Amino acid sequence: MVWMVPRREWRETDMQQPDRPDRSDPAAPRLDLDPAEPGQNLYHLLNSIVAPRPIAWVSTRSASGVANVAPHSYCMLVSANPPVIAFSSTGAKDTLRNLRDTGEFVWNLVIESLAEEMNLSSADFPPDTSEFDWAGLTPVPGVVVGAPRVGESPAALECRVLDIHEYGKGPSYLTVGQVVHVAIDPAFMRGDLMDYDRTRPVGRLSGTSYSRTREVYDLPRPSWAGLQAAGATPRR
Ligand SMILES: Cc1cc2nc3c(=O)[nH]c(=O)nc-3n(C[C@H](O)[C@H](O)[C@H](O)COP(=O)(O)O)c2cc1C
Repeated sequence: MVWMVPRREWRETDMQQPDRPDRSDPAAPRLDLDPAEPGQNLYHLLNSIVAPRPIAWVSTRSASGVANVAPHSYCMLVSANPPVIAFSSTGAKDTLRNLRDTGEFVWNLVIESLAEEMNLSSADFPPDTSEFDWAGLTPVPGVVVGAPRVGESPAALECRVLDIHEYGKGPSYLTVGQVVHVAIDPAFMRGDLMDYDRTRPVGRLSGTSYSRTREVYDLPRPSWAGLQAAGATPRR
C-alpha cells in the first residue's frame, strides 16, 4: 500500500547479551525524578516504563453518522463483573466528541496483521473524514450500540459510556465504559478463549515501537497453601 511508512523489521531484544544485567541491582544508583518539577516532559519516559500496553482501537460514530476509529494505548480492563473498560484521550479529539454526543463506542482488538491499519487510523484526519475508508477497514454495525465495529478485527467489545473524568490542565479525559455486547470471530478462538497463536496481539511501547506476541509461556499461580505443602521457605 502506497501510504505506508517503511516497515521496520522486528528486532530481537538484547536480553541475551551477557554484559547487560537482566534485573536491577537493588544497590545500583537511581535516577530520581520529581514529576512536579517544572520543565519536564515525562510523556515518552512514562510510555517506555509502562510497556507493553494493550491498544484499545476505539470506534465511534459522530452525530452526523461518520464512522471514526483511533488507537488508544492508555487503556485498561477495569472490572470483569460487571465488564468495564477504560481508556484515556490526551486532549479532546474526534473520539471524545463522538463519545459525548452518542455515549457509545466499540473496543476493537488490534492484531499483528492489522497493526499498519491501526497506525494509519491514528493520523489526524478531519472530523468529517472516516478512518475506516482511508485504512480500507469495514465498518460493521454494532449489535447493541450505534457505533460500528472494525469488521477485520476478530474481537469487539460494544460499550456504553459510564463516566468521562477530566485530569490535568491538558487536559486528559478518562472514559469508562460498560461492555454491553461481545462479538468474537470463532475462527480466532481456542476453546472458550482467544487463540494467541492466531490473534498475535500487538503491544505499544514508546515512540513508534511495538511488541508482538510470538512467544507465550505459563507460570502456574502459587497459593499460600500450595507453598506450604511444597515445603517452600522465604528466599530472603
Ligand atoms: C498505538 C497508538 C496509541 C495511541 N494511544 C493514544 C492514547 O492512549 N490516547 C490518545 O489521546 N491518543 C493516542 N494515540 C493518538 C491517537 O490515535 C490520535 O491522536 C488520533 O488522531 C485520534 O483520533 P480521533 O481524533 O479520531 O479521536 C495513539 C496512537 C497510536 C498509533
